[in-house]
Amino acid sequence: MILDFTFHNPTRVHFGKSSLDQLNHELDNYGDNILLLYGKGSIKKIGVYDKVVSILREKGKNIIELGGINPNPRYTQVLEGARLVRENKVDLILAVGGGSTIDCAKAISVSAYCKEDSWEKYWEKYEAVDNDIVPVGAILTMTGTASEMNGGSVITNEEKKIKNGRVFDSEVNPKFAILNPEYTYSVPKYQMVSGVFDIMSHLMEQYFSGDDDNTTDYLIEAVLESLIMSTRKALINPEDYEARSNIMWCATVGLNKILGVSKAQDWEVHMIEHQLGAYTDCAHGIGLAIISVPYYKYIYQYGLDKFVRYAKKVWGVDVDSMSKEEAALAGINKLAEFIKEMGIPSTLREVGATEDMLPLIASSTVKGGGYKHMEENDILEVLKEAY
Ligand code: NZQ
Ligand code: ZN
Repeated sequence: MILDFTFHNPTRVHFGKSSLDQLNHELDNYGDNILLLYGKGSIKKIGVYDKVVSILREKGKNIIELGGINPNPRYTQVLEGARLVRENKVDLILAVGGGSTIDCAKAISVSAYCKEDSWEKYWEKYEAVDNDIVPVGAILTMTGTASEMNGGSVITNEEKKIKNGRVFDSEVNPKFAILNPEYTYSVPKYQMVSGVFDIMSHLMEQYFSGDDDNTTDYLIEAVLESLIMSTRKALINPEDYEARSNIMWCATVGLNKILGVSKAQDWEVHMIEHQLGAYTDCAHGIGLAIISVPYYKYIYQYGLDKFVRYAKKVWGVDVDSMSKEEAALAGINKLAEFIKEMGIPSTLREVGATEDMLPLIASSTVKGGGYKHMEENDILEVLKEAY
């Protein structure tokens, strides 16, 4: 059954090898002052920085630069960007990079003209935005989060040791997004598989909840199939355009809200990972992969039929020859094998977690879940299993 919903996504997406040509036209919609936001330098190595700067110069734009945005962007960087926006009367924040840079751009966008402490207002109290929003444009170089087409902004407050995600209304989405799969060829394997697992996790967290016969679940199964196939090809040949373009689009549709409509959703794996990230600064998708297998083994009995369906539809397990319990576990084991195939570590200690962190992560994680509501002790059990 399709429950009532409203879907609106205002981001204009330009996809493909020539997509950067569209930047020229997009820039006509904004004034002269552009805050160019990027990470630790990969965009310079791959030549995207030079191309973007030359388009901005040809258009006569005034470029204000803020580079060095961290993977897992920091609130202090948001404040620095907000100051630059105010001082330079910035008309457009142009984020060039992965989810961290784009998330940071959205955070700067809502914080620049916020009269209060924006961390408290937007990432603690989750209030609606009631101040001016600075438009954001995105040029994607690393795929996974779908930040290019959603209102999400995940920010780490180092002082408070909290990594909090916030999904703003679609008015905060990038106004446009430029997606050229070729830009992702240079992403190191570790980051690539982190992005792939982030996509898988977005798909599974929307899938493993709510058991109506719902078109959205069929769509998720199809996207998972395309993602798994394309990842295997891109692992063999990182410059396989077909595979890279499929992965990039799987990521964008994976969390631009279309695969979440009309469904209950889980998101507890993400909640746990965010706090793991606050303590270890690990790559987001790697943390998700390590938590997912013990998490799903902990909850599968509460949604047994859906886990059997997942085993059959996504992994091709011959479920008819097994009990439901065996079939569900076979599906989760296939997931574990795929994580191994991608070369992702399987324990928390490999990403820098120590035993004393586990209760702190469990107590500071936002409690929720899909088939099972997770309390602090449940989360601690999952973390111990993952350790
Ligand atoms: O810093 P630079 O030099 O850009 O290097 C980055 C970074 O080290 C590198 N990279 C990016 N493009 C590259 C490249 N290296 C070589 N060639 C390229 N073309 O990759 C590293 C990771 O980049 P990052 O932006 O941190 O990765 P990702 O896209 O996975 O973003 C992760 C952040 O997004 C949040 C995560 O929590 C994390 O903070 N999320 C945002 C979401 C959203 N907006 O909806 C949802 C997600 O669930 C997630 O929580
Ligand atoms: Zn994610």
